[in-house]
Amino acid sequence: MKNILVTGGAGFIGSAFVRYMVDKYPDYNIIVYDKLTYAGNLDNLLPIHDAPNYRFERGDIADETTVERVCTTHEIDTIVNFAAETHVDRSILDPHAFVHTDVVGVYILLETARRLGIERFHHVSTDEVYGSIPEGFFKETDPLEPNSPYAASKAGGEMMIRAYHVTYGLHTSVTRGSNTFGPYQYPEKLAPFFITEAIDDRPLPLYGDGMQVRDWLYVDDHAMAIDTALHQAPPGEIYNVGGEHEMHNIDVTRLILKLLDKPETLIRYVTDRPGHDRRYALTNGRMRQHFGWAPQTDFETAMKHTVQWYRDNEWWWRKIKSGEYLEYYKRQYGERLAGN
Ligand code: NAD
Ligand code: TYD
Repeated sequence: MKNILVTGGAGFIGSAFVRYMVDKYPDYNIIVYDKLTYAGNLDNLLPIHDAPNYRFERGDIADETTVERVCTTHEIDTIVNFAAETHVDRSILDPHAFVHTDVVGVYILLETARRLGIERFHHVSTDEVYGSIPEGFFKETDPLEPNSPYAASKAGGEMMIRAYHVTYGLHTSVTRGSNTFGPYQYPEKLAPFFITEAIDDRPLPLYGDGMQVRDWLYVDDHAMAIDTALHQAPPGEIYNVGGEHEMHNIDVTRLILKLLDKPETLIRYVTDRPGHDRRYALTNGRMRQHFGWAPQTDFETAMKHTVQWYRDNEWWWRKIKSGEYLEYYKRQYGERLAGN
């Protein structure tokens, strides 16, 4: 590994991975390739902006010509793909971009890798491809039963990866991460949305009864798991990456309010998300057994740090909460919160 293309590296988890890798591997050249959609943000990469082993190229992973040009120019030998449309609620409002990026985009990356003889292809996937599980834990060999257009498009991308490994012998690997939180997360997902809304004493719209369960993973643990799999996974393998910290949404919400010293009266129970998965849960058995990897971060400490980060970095999120963000907020929450 010498020249790594990190697609989607200006997003939340991708940028955490890039900041980590640039520092840890001064001998690698890290080239971020990102379309800079509403969720992509070069501010996320400011801490390493001047690092000699970092470059940025703007482009769409579904644009074959540009992907090929960038891979050739930088003599790319490894691709790590974070690029995706990632928000379930947006996928319910309009699935089109999800199929474009999460299915077609993945195919274009794979095809480029095959044509140019790129040695390694790691893909960042999600626990949502399995669907919901009332009890117990999903393992990597379980069937995929995705329920939202987001989850379905991520599962579609994974199927292409499987085919490129089996048919063409491409050295692929996949990690399926659980709900990730931490600094620099676009304020539409539960944690950063509720933290930033609560700072402004605005209502927190909790879907349904708030008793859905997610397994919370700190972003630095997620980045380290991907580094581990990238260097050690045998060809064609898939690994779950869970936070091993299940919580009901209402309890995450209460913790955020407590950390901000805000009242629980900010909570509003609103109309549920259609097709809302009740519970996600994974076993990390394979990551633990193969590589000795386990999440290192204590959940409460990490959430405390995250809340403090949003308090200290209003410059980062206040400018995001305008324009397109407000349009989306109105579509998603306008009716839900009216009269509440
Ligand atoms: P994000 O929405 O913060 O960032 C996505 C990035 O991809 C942005 O920088 C965006 O500009 C870029 N992008 C989108 N479409 C593109 C395209 N067509 N071409 C090039 N770049 C494009 O997402 P995230 O939360 O950092 O998630 C990163 C990856 O991790 C995704 O593949 C997601 O499915 C997966 N994942 C996320 C979570 C989570 O909880 N956030 C959990 C498990 C897995
Ligand atoms: P989210 O951050 O969108 O992640 P995902 O749906 O991919 O797990 O949501 C996490 C949980 O929080 C999920 O059960 C939906 C719920 N949720 C709300 O109750 N209200 C909200 O406004 C949002 C964004 C999420």
